Amino acid sequence: MTAFFRTLACCLALMLMALPAAAAQIGLTVVTKPGSAQHVAAEQFARLLEQRSGGAWSVKIFHSGALGTETEMLQQIQLGAVQMGIITEGPFDTMVPEVRVLSFPFLFPDHATADRVLDGQMGTAVLNELEKAGFKGLAFSENGFRHLSNSVRPVTAANDVAGLKIRVMESTFHRELWRALGANPTPMGWPIYSELQQGTLDAQENPLWVLSVYKLFEVQKHLSLTGHVYSAHIAVANLGWFNRLADADKTLIVECMREAAQYQRAWNRSQEAAYLEEMRAQGMQVVEQPDMASFRERSARLEEMDIFAAPRIRELLRGLRE
Ligand code: PAF
Repeated sequence: MTAFFRTLACCLALMLMALPAAAAQIGLTVVTKPGSAQHVAAEQFARLLEQRSGGAWSVKIFHSGALGTETEMLQQIQLGAVQMGIITEGPFDTMVPEVRVLSFPFLFPDHATADRVLDGQMGTAVLNELEKAGFKGLAFSENGFRHLSNSVRPVTAANDVAGLKIRVMESTFHRELWRALGANPTPMGWPIYSELQQGTLDAQENPLWVLSVYKLFEVQKHLSLTGHVYSAHIAVANLGWFNRLADADKTLIVECMREAAQYQRAWNRSQEAAYLEEMRAQGMQVVEQPDMASFRERSARLEEMDIFAAPRIRELLRGLRE
């Protein structure tokens, strides 16, 4: 090699070394849109990971159902087509039935209890169950307490639910819950605005932020503050992908997701009162204190059903209640 080419090769090598190494990219999927509770957790995770890794990791967020329904997203995470997701508790049900214990009605009386249990041993036990379906469970961020809305009548007690055509998440458990309450449930993915608008559905149940972000107050007249289920969002990764990471990266990813979840829970709770005011201002008729004893009585029978018969499911439910 002539001196000229040697110098040229040296210069090129120096230029390449001066360029920042390309960041390794993680694909992370959420079904809802920017501004939603799910997306806030995803954004905060991306921010933390990119900062703390000094740019070695970057996160590409797929939102607004770009990768399909939450059930389809879980399938894609299982296949490794996308590495991570923040997914509502409901759709895990058909792949990991043990997760349904988290959604048991009236399990958590308030946010503080939900935090204590989910951040403790029992939360970890449920996250560990995900491994048998190929997921690494990372953290619980928050969807929130679910409330009932509908376009037919004020719901003041469980009897008023009779026959309502209600959309439920793609989950055996949520379907059975609404059957037990006397409604006519249809499991389907998200979103559901046009079905509510066209009257294919009368009702839905979700935390208040969902009514606001998806403008459901335009197509739902009645809101009952039932708070029947505390709904978690579960951050998961493809287990094989996660296990192949270097230990330091595993620790960093878990830490960033747990911190993002803490941040998002506080953010979510700080919005709640404003969302309720907004629903009133938008003309929704709010039943503030429905007769929840009637809901408790009807939903208690779920525990005797086959879907809660497996010993591990019973054991986890007992543990979550302690
Ligand atoms: O009802 C659902 O499917 C979920 O609660 C939603 C709206 C996707 C938020 O997690």
